[in-house]
Amino acid sequence: MTLLKVEDLSIAFGKVKAVQSIRFHIEAGESVGIVGESGSGKTATIHALTGLSESTAISGRALFEGEDLLSKTEKELQKIRGKKIGLMFQDPMTSLNPTMKIGDQIAEGPLYHSLISKKEARAEAIQWLRLVGVPDAAMRIDQYPIQLSGGTRQRVTLAIAAACHPSLLIADEPTTALDVTVQAQILDLLKQMQERLMMSLLIITHDISVVSHLCDRVIVMHAGRIVEQGLVSEVLTSPRHPYTQMLLSARKQFRGALV
Ligand SMILES: Nc1ncnc2c1ncn2[C@@H]1O[C@H](COP(=O)(O)OP(=O)(O)OP(=O)(O)O)[C@@H](O)[C@H]1O
Ligand SMILES: [Mg+2]
Repeated sequence: MTLLKVEDLSIAFGKVKAVQSIRFHIEAGESVGIVGESGSGKTATIHALTGLSESTAISGRALFEGEDLLSKTEKELQKIRGKKIGLMFQDPMTSLNPTMKIGDQIAEGPLYHSLISKKEARAEAIQWLRLVGVPDAAMRIDQYPIQLSGGTRQRVTLAIAAACHPSLLIADEPTTALDVTVQAQILDLLKQMQERLMMSLLIITHDISVVSHLCDRVIVMHAGRIVEQGLVSEVLTSPRHPYTQMLLSARKQFRGALV
């Protein structure tokens, strides 16, 4: 079953054509990666899909569970965002609320969407914290983001994004701000959660090795266009587009430099 089908999506910021007529789809339960250099339109794309874009020039269609996200009002999108589409961003310090206990932040979505009662909220938040691998969950839920390490903060962000059991989880560079060993842990956790909760995953990254670990299919963006997309096993072994070839050879050189 196709969960999301994006057709002819274009996004402009004034004269800047950030995204030009892209099309892609995500199947239920599938994990799709978007790679591409800085400024290629990755974030602009997901912001447009979720109603978070500052652009006033968005065109095309984005059918999610059969309904066009691009023609929805902000009020309608609020019922989808957080509930059916979970979001995770690069920097947990900007996505977490510094003045609110993390347990309350995890329970906020399910309470807002009336999925649980106030009575259930605390127990639910503890369960979510355990699920994302935070030790001493019962004590930790009363802490504030500043009291947590970067990796734990990103685990909390994942718990918040998953707390309403969305059918699609979108993660924009979820590990870029973390150090390398913590990055690997968070990526493994993301994969586990995706499988456990049977979510589709759309993950945006600069790092093609993230895609090879986590994704079934990959979309390669370059200068606002999709230049190549297909199964990870095919695209990474026989890239067709010169830009994809360059990404892969850059990775090899980088690996070479590390040895
Ligand atoms: N709010 C905005 N106002 C003006 N221009 C914007 C805005 N957001 C994005 N752009 C422009 O749109 C283009 C695509 O930006 P986008 O943020 O989608 O890139 P990206 O692929 O996510 O890059 P990065 O890997 O650095 O996050 C860029 O040229 C950028 O300058
Ligand atoms: Mg971006």
